[in-house]
Amino acid sequence: MSVSNFAQQASPASKPSKILTYETINSHVKRVEYAVRGELAISAERIKDELSNGYSHNYRFDTVVNCNIGNPQQLKQKPITFFRQIASLVEYPDLLSPENRKQIESLYPKDAIERAQMLLEKIGSIGAYSHSQGIPCIRNNVAKFIEERDGYPAEQSNIFLTQGASAGVQNVLQLIIAHSNVGIMIPIPQYPLYTATLALYDAQPVPYYLDEEKDWGLDISQLTSSLSAGRSKGLDIRALVIINPGNPTGQCLTEQNMREIIDFCHNERIILLADEVYQTNIYLPAERPFHSFKKVLRSMGKKYDQFELFSFHSVSKGMIGECGRRGGYYECTGIDSHVVNELYKIASVSLCPNIQGQIMVDLMVQPPKCEDESYALYQKELSKIYESLRRRSIKLSECFNQLEGVTCNNAQGSMYLFPRIRLPQKAIEAARQAGRQPDESYCLAMLNATGVCVVPGSGFGQKDGTWHFRSTFLPPEGLFDGFCDRLQNFHHEFFEKYRD
Ligand SMILES: Cc1ncc(COP(=O)(O)O)c(C=O)c1O
Repeated sequence: MSVSNFAQQASPASKPSKILTYETINSHVKRVEYAVRGELAISAERIKDELSNGYSHNYRFDTVVNCNIGNPQQLKQKPITFFRQIASLVEYPDLLSPENRKQIESLYPKDAIERAQMLLEKIGSIGAYSHSQGIPCIRNNVAKFIEERDGYPAEQSNIFLTQGASAGVQNVLQLIIAHSNVGIMIPIPQYPLYTATLALYDAQPVPYYLDEEKDWGLDISQLTSSLSAGRSKGLDIRALVIINPGNPTGQCLTEQNMREIIDFCHNERIILLADEVYQTNIYLPAERPFHSFKKVLRSMGKKYDQFELFSFHSVSKGMIGECGRRGGYYECTGIDSHVVNELYKIASVSLCPNIQGQIMVDLMVQPPKCEDESYALYQKELSKIYESLRRRSIKLSECFNQLEGVTCNNAQGSMYLFPRIRLPQKAIEAARQAGRQPDESYCLAMLNATGVCVVPGSGFGQKDGTWHFRSTFLPPEGLFDGFCDRLQNFHHEFFEKYRD
């Protein structure tokens, strides 16, 4: 249709109905589902509104607890002081002018002032666009961080700063998905960013299952059978997504397992996408330390020189929890330089990632050093959050494991537990009659009875015939006892109501 024809057809005089309707929008958008922000989260917001507008008599609780999303500062996690000091100074550089200097020196540590000044010198105004791939000196610092973490070289030209890891994953998938027959292997359960992006870009998810009986471990035979199933459908399987540490499942891969995964990809000519946003959320550091795929790959020697890997990281998780800043990066390893140029083009369509997010990445990868004035406080804040997260993960899994018909693996990493619930048959039938998934009905009932908002397992994928939910263990420790009591009472009542 020519432009003039389109204008004619769409003009209000000739056609008063809307041009853009549910029927006429991009059908791929309609296929997108994002459970962590789905119906449960929307109902939780509605209940919050009711509670704050004086309708608390409708409920047996007075607060809603958002365990549906890994959003630490929403649940009152304190921001790291050093990060916020620098964010505030770069936001309002007049604070650093000679007339304010004395006052600022009494409020901010010397290294925070120096760091802010240095960033401003390199960046200029944070209200200006930056290089589309990200501010060069910050990419340099990311490369240094990777080298120190892994003991192998990293190049700033292979690093892209992004609006959170999500934007990086989307850009890379957009590049890989050349046609609608492309298959991408994803874990089940998975973080819905992956299924949602595949739906948006019209590619086919090829699921492989994590083994709940083995602490949500990954068995290579699963990858092999999933690959054959995908290939037998004629799919062009191009990439494998690994989330390590896992979301929603909280497992950390062993180094041996990672080598097997690399070998599998190498033999099958598959690109590896390593989502490593939870790399510092490690709760069994001796038994299950974090290893980056980049490090394991490089340790495997020259045979794997051409291996293609994208690794993602973020300021949203760890002990930082600055999700709202939208900062992240990805590193390209073994990617053809022409392809990296095309990724640059994709990045440049959005001009640049936001500057405060890029600055958070800089602080994440170059935190205060032991000789710096800020170091002691930084370490104290970090370990306080870390220890508390570890305690909370154990407390909550103990709480879940006490529920009738529920089993829950402990979290080796990340911020989530993914308990399995064996629902009574009557509850399953009642849910089906209401047109819902059984785990969704259970989670809605939990929200209405307790104010605790979790996400049904069906939003992440699960083995047929099993039911789960995902909960963060982010609520503040002070809330935990009351929270577990409410949960246990609800669960008991639910099981009594539907007992077979
Ligand atoms: C596994 C995983 N990858 C990526 C993301 C996206 O993080 P970001 O806030 O950096 O976009 C999340 C967020 O929860 C996640 O859990």
